[in-house]
Amino acid sequence: MYDKNLCDEQDINLKTLSKFLELAYGLSAWKSIPGSQWALRMNPSSSNLHPTEVYVIVPDINGIEGIFHYNPYLHALEKRAALTQEISNRIKDYYKTECFLVALTSIPWREAWKYGERALRYCLLDTGHAIGSMVFSASLQGWKVKYINSISDKEIGKILGFHKTEGIENEEEFPEGVFCIFPKNKEDIPRDFPEDVVKLIEKLDFKGKPNRLSKEHVRWEIIYETLKEIEKPRTKPEKIIFKEKPLLWLKDSPFKASQIIRKRRSAQAYDRKTYISLDTFIHILDKTVPRKSYSPFNVEISNPHINLLLFVHRVEGLTSGLYFFFRNDKFKGKIIRKSRKEFLWEKVIEDMDLYLLYPSDVQHTARIVSCQQDIASDSSFSLGMISLFEPVIKEKPWLYKNLHWEAGLIGQVLYLEAEAHSIRGTGIGCFFDDAVHEILGFSDLEFQTLYHFTAGGYLEDFRLTTYPPYYHLER
Ligand SMILES: Cc1cc2nc3c(=O)[nH]c(=O)nc-3n(C[C@H](O)[C@H](O)[C@H](O)COP(=O)(O)O)c2cc1C
Repeated sequence: MYDKNLCDEQDINLKTLSKFLELAYGLSAWKSIPGSQWALRMNPSSSNLHPTEVYVIVPDINGIEGIFHYNPYLHALEKRAALTQEISNRIKDYYKTECFLVALTSIPWREAWKYGERALRYCLLDTGHAIGSMVFSASLQGWKVKYINSISDKEIGKILGFHKTEGIENEEEFPEGVFCIFPKNKEDIPRDFPEDVVKLIEKLDFKGKPNRLSKEHVRWEIIYETLKEIEKPRTKPEKIIFKEKPLLWLKDSPFKASQIIRKRRSAQAYDRKTYISLDTFIHILDKTVPRKSYSPFNVEISNPHINLLLFVHRVEGLTSGLYFFFRNDKFKGKIIRKSRKEFLWEKVIEDMDLYLLYPSDVQHTARIVSCQQDIASDSSFSLGMISLFEPVIKEKPWLYKNLHWEAGLIGQVLYLEAEAHSIRGTGIGCFFDDAVHEILGFSDLEFQTLYHFTAGGYLEDFRLTTYPPYYHLER
């Protein structure tokens, strides 16, 4: 599923767009217990609250044209605005290819009613997962995806018609990012969206308004203040070049990529006994390394800033303990110098920047730092995503978003890789930052843990009944 040559290039038409959206953002199952039923989607989301909204902008391709909102419950596109021929032609001429754009936004209230001020982090992590879902689904249609990194948040709002939409107080929707999707035989596209096209779209008529979510709200002011601080201005378009490293210990999956995506689930509990093989472990970690022509990091959301602190519990041939994996070696020297002097930094295998820091049973520690959740200790391994932090956001505050997207993207790779190798993963948004920093011996915010993840042999919840994703439309 990661191979650039794997999937034949498909035309962009209603059928392929439908397949792409379904596998990226559609429903993947219904679950029920007596008295309650809920839908799950292809993309995971903190507490299944799904703050991410998806929009598609299609510049007159094979009879489809317009700005649409994607409705996963109905698997339907809701037309918000018609594009003029001039706008469609400008977009196609600019990118010099058939293409369409996807815009992602977040509604913090969807998370904030439950998580308070922490909600913003969850929204941004969910967006990272949603970017991953998009890139993998597009790859299966033979399409590439690139992040349009020049456009400002205000401009995204304008091309989605936010200035012409009656919003709901405390349920505001915020722009996150715009992505261009195009056939893979086209070598590359600019990472820009022309300002004059924004001005043309801004004048269109937009239809539709959001549904009200709640009668009452608690306003978590800090979320909205932070969103102002991290609002992205227009910047110079930039290409991000990754190296073309060979894949290590490549391990095939018995499942097809689309099967893996459809069956992906978050484990609710782990069995405390499954040992995964060393080659599975290495293969999974290696897939989190950004590479030039492999999905999903080639979407180029930013330069990589994240490395992994690992709590290894059950991996064959590896002593249990604390490990560190560098996805890129840029911050290696700094992290080694900054961290506890007693760490061993013992290399585990050739060709890979994986180090043993100290051997020990780290189940208790893993559980404590992940908000006392057993899923962090009962699995085969869990991890914290350690990002360069303060230097990044001091220079460019809006990259606060991209750091969390990178974490979500790594999470999406881990979910799918776990599923591909018959174990299961779970994103962990609840963790204690300071406790993780203390383990490493970090006393400032130069580096910050942004997201946790766990994977291993899981326990099914047999109390739940599963129904097919769109059976509600057949009734
Ligand atoms: C950003 C994020 C944070 C999450 N945090 C937790 C967590 O702390 N504990 C947990 O048990 N599950 C966590 N999950 C898993 C979600 O609850 C799960 O994705 C959601 O219920 C949907 O189920 P699915 O992943 O099977 O589609 C998290 C998922 C995401 C994407």
